[in-house]
Amino acid sequence: MRILAIETSCDETALALIEILETTSAGPKFKILANQLVSQMKLHAEFGGVFPTLAKREHARAIGPLFTKLLDEAKLSITYKPETDRTEIIRELLIREPEVFLYFAEHIIKMENPGVDAIAVTAGPGLEPALWVGINFARALATLWHIPLIPANHMEGHIVSIVAQESGTTFSMPPLSFPALSLLVSGGHTELVLVEDWLKYKKIGETRDDAVGEAFDKVARMLGLPYPGGPEISRLADEARRLGLPSTTTFPRPMLTSPDFDFSFSGLKTSVLYHIRDLPKPLSTTDIQNIARAFEDAAIDVLVKKTMRAIEMNNVQTVLVGGGVANNNHLQRTLRDTIASEHPDIKVYFPRVDFSTDNALMIGIAGFLHIKDGTAGTHIEPLKAQGNLSL
Ligand code: KG4
Ligand code: ZN
Repeated sequence: MRILAIETSCDETALALIEILETTSAGPKFKILANQLVSQMKLHAEFGGVFPTLAKREHARAIGPLFTKLLDEAKLSITYKPETDRTEIIRELLIREPEVFLYFAEHIIKMENPGVDAIAVTAGPGLEPALWVGINFARALATLWHIPLIPANHMEGHIVSIVAQESGTTFSMPPLSFPALSLLVSGGHTELVLVEDWLKYKKIGETRDDAVGEAFDKVARMLGLPYPGGPEISRLADEARRLGLPSTTTFPRPMLTSPDFDFSFSGLKTSVLYHIRDLPKPLSTTDIQNIARAFEDAAIDVLVKKTMRAIEMNNVQTVLVGGGVANNNHLQRTLRDTIASEHPDIKVYFPRVDFSTDNALMIGIAGFLHIKDGTAGTHIEPLKAQGNLSL
């Protein structure tokens, strides 16, 4: 079975084509036929964050040509047939996505299905104007090729992004012991999700204000560092540790001892702001390194301690980390070390760097789990973008 996956929930336009080779009890074993991505990060960097309407425009410009690139990469033989009645597809796409329509009408509308069995597309959560681009493109293609369209939850995608590479382009899901706990940490989300089994999720905690990645980005901005700030803060904090700089400050750990599994990062961010305000300007390199380390220590401390508590309260066997902040070295070290010393039987998985940030591969896998389970419709669903879609 071949699945085309489409992801446009934030600032990456991502497409993937995967072929399911077999399904084991652990999950699918599959081959990546093609995997393409265009990032809008540089554009949004100028504004210090992602603007929904700008994101939508960029997705609309990118998605058609990226689809052509995807088919080229997969080396599928493409044939064309004379135009039949496509009025319905054309009308809908023209009204909803004029820019996508132009490319679609010129390059795709006469294309015969080169062996794609289903399309999985992110329905939410995310920026609704951005989500609509992927959904409208997917709907047009699914109607054209008469194949099922499966809505995928972006967060479920991050949960299943811990795929293991078997060899070359062949990947599989590692065999996991359930219940698992997923720590989802990105620029838009900070959540703890209990995974009783694939497709059985229960959100047990989330941030009440800023996402942890957003806090990294905002603190980076206060320090005059480029967007996205997470990797920069992480690099400077590691420098401070390597140089053994004496610690000059510590920041509060919000909600560290609260009895729930929720987070809050906005107070931490404000403490950093007040601390910077009282320092002589311009900030010295040492000041910046010190602040980066103290902030990272506080943020990661909260993530790790809450994760440990969630492990203990829920008899967790496996920990899955997902989202851009999963790349953070300090989080990886601290979480692995803490689990190894307190619960050596628990396995911890982090995604590969390219699967931790937004990508379409994870959407394809999430979509497949629904097809396999029979929970996905076999018709073209009247899909809608759902900005706040929950698991
Ligand atoms: O998952 P992602 O690519 O996009 C969202 O869905 O948000 O995550 C991006 C976020 C940004 O806030 C970025 O600063 C953060 O992940 N990030 C990091 C690191 N690498 C990326 N935060 C801390 N340390 C890192 N090494
Ligand atoms: Zn994401």
